[in-house]
Amino acid sequence: MTITEHPETTPKWWKEATIYQIYPASFKDSNNDGWGDLKGITSKLQYLKDLGVDAVWVCPFYDSPQQDMGYDIANYEKVWPTYGTNEECFELINKTHELGMKFITDLVINHCSADHEWFKESRSSKTNPKRDWFFWRPPKGYDSEGRPIPPNNWKSFFGGPAWSFDETTNEFFLRLFASRQPDLNWENDECRKAIYESAIGYWLDHGVDGFRIDTAGLYSKRPGMPDSPIFDLNSDLQHPNWGSHNGPRIHEFHKEIRRFIVDRVKDGREIMTVGEVAHGNDNALYTSASRGEMSEVFSFRHVDTGASEFFRYNAVPFTLKEWKQAIADNFLFINGTDTWSTIYLENHDQPRSITRFGDDSPKYRILSGKLLAMLECSLTGTLYLYQGQEIGQINFKDWPIEKYEDVDVRTNYNIIKEKHGENSNEMQKFYEGIALLSRDHARTPMQWSAETPNAGFCAPDAQPWYFLNESYKNGINVADELDNKDSVLNFWKKAMKARKENKNVMVYGYDFEFIDLDSDKLFSFTKQFEDKTLFAAFNFSGDMVDVKSPKEGASLSLILGNYDDVDASSTVLRPWEGRLYYVQ
Ligand code: GLC
Repeated sequence: MTITEHPETTPKWWKEATIYQIYPASFKDSNNDGWGDLKGITSKLQYLKDLGVDAVWVCPFYDSPQQDMGYDIANYEKVWPTYGTNEECFELINKTHELGMKFITDLVINHCSADHEWFKESRSSKTNPKRDWFFWRPPKGYDSEGRPIPPNNWKSFFGGPAWSFDETTNEFFLRLFASRQPDLNWENDECRKAIYESAIGYWLDHGVDGFRIDTAGLYSKRPGMPDSPIFDLNSDLQHPNWGSHNGPRIHEFHKEIRRFIVDRVKDGREIMTVGEVAHGNDNALYTSASRGEMSEVFSFRHVDTGASEFFRYNAVPFTLKEWKQAIADNFLFINGTDTWSTIYLENHDQPRSITRFGDDSPKYRILSGKLLAMLECSLTGTLYLYQGQEIGQINFKDWPIEKYEDVDVRTNYNIIKEKHGENSNEMQKFYEGIALLSRDHARTPMQWSAETPNAGFCAPDAQPWYFLNESYKNGINVADELDNKDSVLNFWKKAMKARKENKNVMVYGYDFEFIDLDSDKLFSFTKQFEDKTLFAAFNFSGDMVDVKSPKEGASLSLILGNYDDVDASSTVLRPWEGRLYYVQ
């Protein structure tokens, strides 16, 4: 194999790095006000280093009214005071570097908060110079009760119309997410320049190594913003993707961002970007090194498997085959190209992977958690690990609706309540959906120990901003797991170490091929690197499953297994057993 045959194997720090994602509100509270903060993160850097991660990505810590947990930014150049000061942030970046890790920050530039000065100016009058920095449109008309009708039929990603009415000038502004999260108008050159300077330039000047680019496929809206065709026959409002996703100028904008970054950085740092692009077939364009847009992207195929196309909280059955295929589709496109991809099962927008894709019962939680760790560590692409995932966190159980916090859940709850009522089938289905799929499962405070009632996230007498998942009492916490050699946490360390030691085939392996794709219990594949073949076999069930060698007569040498008493030569996988081999 030469690099020309597989340009995707060109080594880069950001391809090999395992990136640990931190949700600042819930990671570690250093001053006992109940909110995580930057000093709290700094205090845990050594823990992350010992875990074996190479970089941290910290979700938005900027000044914000927190309508969408910091994804509604009021000032790109200022830390939210509850999280600390800018100086504390620079200190965090420096300390991360001192420990030999990289620092990645979140870049939320499709929209800002209605509290941002740019928006305040824009809304103040129709003739304000920044009026065109946002999408203002007059009502389409007025309904029989005199209420203004939104300019088009686009639905917000969080439910309800994608437009908010503003009485200052009696016009609507576009906001694809929450009611006070206005979309920035990327067609306006001055607006784009201001975004780059404030949101990107400022943080490059302060030493960040990369950006996770929020909603990176949404900046170029469909010209004229017409009504969407009707895809969902049961709704007046239509999913916003048609009008906003991968629009006509999106690649031009990403090239411009990349040029801005390259021109700005003078000290040789190689800046990585990872874009959240959800859906579509543009991933190869976004991540081709020769095109100069982004380093890699997050696709949603595999995490959307099992959720209805029109409404995220309608859980639908799915087969292992569909899920396997969805995972592979996220990275198969890179084979033999100059592109790259990502591996993840969790983030702050997803529930806990053991509950969704493993088995979170006391019997199989640990085994299936280890199995998922092995699967992720064996796949090609940059690996992301979300806080709490390393301890095998599971979804909280049986929480009443009052304990859900997320704006997405609350908005949809109110819509369903108004339309169908509290005791409707629709509400019942919604409750089942959020128990499985709500973003809140990822957002409970990190469980550092078994200390009641706050699990070491903050002092026992402090009041955390959000409820804890009771699972910290059942051994799912850092302190207990560090002490237990059989814990999910210690297994993650082992699996990440194996990934590093065998990085050629584990991180960069190519020519991925499923074995037994149709099987609904077995997830098995091979991939190559030069003369090496990796063979992976994972049993996604509580049954015994037969497994065949990928090559008749080949000898297999075991790299890693998730059972203590692994029998490497056995052709039967026990419940939730996984093994990784070299094939000779
Ligand atoms: C992204 C973020 C999510 C946020 C949304 C709006 O999907 O990951 O948390 O709510 O964008 O910014």
